[in-house]
Amino acid sequence: MSILITGGAGYIGSHTSVELLKAGYDIVIADNFSNSKPEVLNRIEELTGKKFKFYEIDILDRDSLNKVFLENSIEAVIHFAGLKSVGESVAMPISYYYNNITGSLILAEVMAKHDVKKIVFSSSATVYGMNNVSPLTEDLPLSTTNPYGSTKLMIEQIFQDIYVSDKDWSIALLRYFNPIGAHESGRIGEDPKGTPNNIMPYITQVAVGKRDKLSIFGDDYDTHDGTGVRDYIHVVDLAKGHLKAVEKIMGTKGIDAYNLGTGIGYSVLDLVKNFEEATGVKVPYVITKNRPGDIATCFSDPTKALKELGWKTEKTLKDMCKDSWRWQSNNKAGY
Ligand code: NAD
Ligand code: UD1
Repeated sequence: MSILITGGAGYIGSHTSVELLKAGYDIVIADNFSNSKPEVLNRIEELTGKKFKFYEIDILDRDSLNKVFLENSIEAVIHFAGLKSVGESVAMPISYYYNNITGSLILAEVMAKHDVKKIVFSSSATVYGMNNVSPLTEDLPLSTTNPYGSTKLMIEQIFQDIYVSDKDWSIALLRYFNPIGAHESGRIGEDPKGTPNNIMPYITQVAVGKRDKLSIFGDDYDTHDGTGVRDYIHVVDLAKGHLKAVEKIMGTKGIDAYNLGTGIGYSVLDLVKNFEEATGVKVPYVITKNRPGDIATCFSDPTKALKELGWKTEKTLKDMCKDSWRWQSNNKAGY
């Protein structure tokens, strides 16, 4: 029996694949490399000493996906495959809705056809929108402000409706806060194409000399130092949360959403300071204007994941900074 990992060549998928293999699961990865590179597969094998099957397919291709289920005994799916850039989603909404939503619909359809009804889905804290007050709990009203976020919210809704129609499904919707960091070996990590949108890859690219300075988007927010506050989570802690979610869906039926975060908010300036202290490398920065759509503060209440999945984070902000830096400095050009 295997776990199918869609998008398993990506940033979070590759770290989750390592943790699943280490825990003794058989896995099958399906990815179209639209935002990842084949080299990551060698690294996963190198880190675990385990072999696994890989399919270079687009999940929008129903026949190829069907073949994966015909050729393997899939027990459950972890569904990472999706496009994830907020800015790009505003510029290319059709691609985002098509890839993320149609991709998820085709996956659910092929799963149902093969009577595989256990899935862990990569949702995002973005579904809490702009109006809720942190710490955010899973039962708050949901809303979104951009097409990327809307795809996550709609896919959550689609899975809710699938469960209502067929109570044999077992579904975990994981709402990630801000994943950063890398595997402590420095062999796998985040490898964004072009200019990074998210803060940590930007910081490491400044630190490695690839970019001049960090632009901090605003210092007039209502936070302890005026810069935006977020719940940064180490990607390996996040990966381990998927293991716990897989254990949960194996043993039960139903649908539940879980926050995966630390419950602690750090500002952009806290992050820069911790990075400099953890690595000994200076990060020059300038304060620029606020990024449209950003909120002042966003952090989780992770109590439900602790209670129901038995999961909590273990790594500190300094661990995240050290590991991001080890990955970046050992792999200056990415994979
Ligand atoms: P990523 O881009 O590194 O990984 C996604 C992978 O999916 C890539 O390898 C890409 O090639 C693949 N993919 C995309 N569309 C595909 C398709 N149609 N068929 C097959 N493969 C396809 O992103 P990530 O950071 O690892 O994120 C994984 C998931 O978690 C995404 O769904 C993302 O929206 C979600 N998420 C990410 C973050 C974050 O900050 N990284 C936060 C919240 C949620
Ligand atoms: C962004 C997305 C969110 C997505 C999340 C994780 C937006 C508006 N939101 O959230 O939907 O789920 O990434 O992928 O894009 N910052 C700087 N300088 C930079 C980059 C960021 O100061 O060069 C600041 C931001 O203003 C924010 C913090 O750093 O306060 C974190 O930013 P980022 O990493 O982009 O994550 P989010 O904004 O939380």
